[in-house]
Amino acid sequence: MEHEMVLEQEQILEHEKVLENEKVLEHEKVLVLDFGGQYNQLIARRVREQNVYAEILPYTVGLDRILAENYKGIILTGGPKSVYGENAALFERALFEAGIPILGICYGAQVMAQVLGGAVRPAGVREYGSTVIRYNGASKLFAQVRPKSICWMSHTDYIAELPEGFTVTATTESCPCAAMECEERGLYAVQFHPEVNHTQQGTEILRAFLFDVCGCAGDWIMSDFVERSIEKLREQIGDRRVLCAMSGGVDSSVAAVMIHKAVGKQLTCVFVDHGLLRKNEGDDVERIFRGQFDMNLVRANVEERFLSKLAGVTDPETKRKIIGEEFIRVFEEEAKKIGEIDYLVQGTIYPDVIESGTGDAAVIKSHHNVGGLPKDISFKGIIEPLRDLFKDEVRKAGLTLGIPEDLVWRQPFPGPGLAVRIMGDITPSKLSILRDADAIFREEIRSAGLDRDINQYFAVLTDVRSVGVMGDGRTYDYLLALRGVTTTDFMTADYAKIPYDVLDKVSRRIVNEVGHINRIVYDITSKPPATIEWE
Ligand code: XMP
Repeated sequence: MEHEMVLEQEQILEHEKVLENEKVLEHEKVLVLDFGGQYNQLIARRVREQNVYAEILPYTVGLDRILAENYKGIILTGGPKSVYGENAALFERALFEAGIPILGICYGAQVMAQVLGGAVRPAGVREYGSTVIRYNGASKLFAQVRPKSICWMSHTDYIAELPEGFTVTATTESCPCAAMECEERGLYAVQFHPEVNHTQQGTEILRAFLFDVCGCAGDWIMSDFVERSIEKLREQIGDRRVLCAMSGGVDSSVAAVMIHKAVGKQLTCVFVDHGLLRKNEGDDVERIFRGQFDMNLVRANVEERFLSKLAGVTDPETKRKIIGEEFIRVFEEEAKKIGEIDYLVQGTIYPDVIESGTGDAAVIKSHHNVGGLPKDISFKGIIEPLRDLFKDEVRKAGLTLGIPEDLVWRQPFPGPGLAVRIMGDITPSKLSILRDADAIFREEIRSAGLDRDINQYFAVLTDVRSVGVMGDGRTYDYLLALRGVTTTDFMTADYAKIPYDVLDKVSRRIVNEVGHINRIVYDITSKPPATIEWE
């Protein structure tokens, strides 16, 4: 996540041709047609977990585009609206007559019913949560599941009348049509959510759709995908030169290693070490990428330059701005030294490019990205080798490529680095205190086996000093805060319930081993109202 450079929309359009060329990795695939529900990415990930490639498109996409893609099957997702409401999200009937197997989920099931001439009405009883369901085992979808089980429901409308040719294949106490199908036409619908864990044997139901209904082979395997991507990149890049801003974060590392495998030293990675990284981080990046992978890595050691620009600056936004701008300047200077560049690498991943089914434009990265793209470097195109992958798949690809597990599982780290974890002005001595304290915290979290459960955890050096006592003497030293959060998307987060004995050990070690800290607090606010970082 750090210091990723993000293209302005016009720059993306300018390079659209390059992106299209790059997208042609042929394999069987399933379409997740997005009607705006909350589980849409989850559905695509569940399909991919079965080694079937799934992509998400909004329901507003035209039928022609769908037909041109040769999908093995289509899944209609849930959605927030009513199919009979004004401006309801629907799809033309021809979709259901194209001979492609379709599975409608929740709202998607109601779309199928409505468009094909059935009726959807407000339910007398709103079903929400775990619900007992009875399946008809004669259905291909339910042949492998127990006849009576638990499913996850979340609906206020229900299918009151079936379209012609359909039969009911599952019921609950308050839902007479919890599933319906028309086997000859390959059309299936479930009112519940097979993709969420609360639905028992939901995976079996999705598998039955993919393998028994759609006839998928399940041949989307990460190692093959990585290999094919590398071949494709090699073809696309030819003998041209590629530049990558390496941050040591997961995405830029995996992208860079993939390109390196394709074109070796035609790739140059520039790693801007602004001196605001965690303990040993800069050296680790150098060791792994130059040492282990023998990559062309330029490390710009510009700590002094950054610290002198930041001297005396206390306002968080000003700090961020200075770092963002300076980062781009350094990157540009280094790129110029390298000479002519043809392609620039972006670590864009699939959630960044999904067009949303709720009508909002795709959000290209979050508010944090630093400084935009260098304006002074000319290049012909952008390469985005991770464009098709979810974050967990990027990690899998990283492991497949031989990137060390520590790096692949690295927690996110903000572009402005420790500058936003030191309240007030930044000095070399504060940086050194924070680095040591943070390293101890991370070490203890890891040795307690909590590092995969807590999504982000770090220390913050506050600007507060308080009185303490050590030995016989009075101290007047810094207050350190520890922060640990659990989250799925970093947009909202809960504070991690770290066991007291772990906190206790961390606190003792930091006070004993790091100078100038005499008091430690643990941050117990969620996001919102707090943010994850302190600045
Ligand atoms: P907040 O503090 O906004 O952070 O709750 C949400 C997530 O974003 C990370 N973060 C950044 N990432 N550049 C980045 O690449 C930044 O400037 C930046 N600021 C915050 C933060 O670490 C958390 O994971």
